[in-house]
Amino acid sequence: MEALKLYQAKIELFLDDALQNLPANPINLQEAIRYSTLNQGKRIRPAMLLAIGEIFEIEENKLSAPACALELIHCYSLVHDDLPAMDDDNLRRGKPTCHIAFNEATAILVGDAQQTLAFEILATENKISAEHRIEMIQILSKSAGVNGMVAGQQIDLNSENTEAPISLDELKTLHRLKTGALIKAAFLLGACQSTKFEQYRPVLENLGESIGLAFQVQDDIIDIESDTQTLGKTQGKDEAANKSTFPKLLGLEAAKGYRDSLIEQAKNALKSLPNNSKTGKNTHRFLEQLIEFIAQRNH
Ligand code: IPE
Ligand code: IPE
Ligand code: MG
Ligand code: MG
Ligand code: MG
Repeated sequence: MEALKLYQAKIELFLDDALQNLPANPINLQEAIRYSTLNQGKRIRPAMLLAIGEIFEIEENKLSAPACALELIHCYSLVHDDLPAMDDDNLRRGKPTCHIAFNEATAILVGDAQQTLAFEILATENKISAEHRIEMIQILSKSAGVNGMVAGQQIDLNSENTEAPISLDELKTLHRLKTGALIKAAFLLGACQSTKFEQYRPVLENLGESIGLAFQVQDDIIDIESDTQTLGKTQGKDEAANKSTFPKLLGLEAAKGYRDSLIEQAKNALKSLPNNSKTGKNTHRFLEQLIEFIAQRNH
């Protein structure tokens, strides 16, 4: 997606900058952190965060820290998700996963380091007021931990190889937590420094929830329909691991229909966001394209 490239380029710079001052020793830890962070991710979450920040007229230098922090948490979730004890995957973003390129213990430590670095970056960013830093730490910790991604990952693992399939409601909860929570955080982190934040919070939550759920439904679909080369991760892993997914529960066509209804819901919610007089129209259009991309992506 062309318009995404502009955001991706900025995010690469932010991340590169954030990883500039890693301690030289131990060098293998530094290499493994860089390997698992600066590596062709689509950067959808921080791109959404930056776009929402534009809509709420937040200066970009007050958005780079939360953008980095969010992507670091996402990268850590992938490193751990790929571990043998979890999804046991060999390929991520078109390259050997961290535990294959380095080793399992290092991959565990890389995730630990990415996670703590995310909070260090937020806590020490002096371009953001102390009050907003605390608010961001609250948003991110809540969406990443036992109230969000980590809980979702546990439910995902519990739902592998179950005798009876889990219910649709349970699957929605699983997806909302493991993927939706961090995507929703992008919307909240992007806007929380605005005086209009509380007024728009329900719209942002609604938007984040429908996009977050649609994102994981599509992730389940492309695990079936795409190919390993395009995906940059091994195709067919969900079926092989007997995971609970939307296509498995609803069938492929109904899963696509559900995805599309969530996308429509998100596009409607987008209309309720304010208009920034400088970049408003373009940013609204970008977010609309990004929402469409989420449903059409094949990687
Ligand atoms: C993959 O996320 C894991 C999920 C939560 C579905 P992305 O598809 O955003 O992965 P990258 O960051 O582009 O590699
Ligand atoms: C990942 O879900 C969600 C995370 C919290 C990382 P998946 O296990 O479906 O992600 P992929 O398909 O390995 O990227
Ligand atoms: Mg997983
Ligand atoms: Mg996985
Ligand atoms: Mg998947």
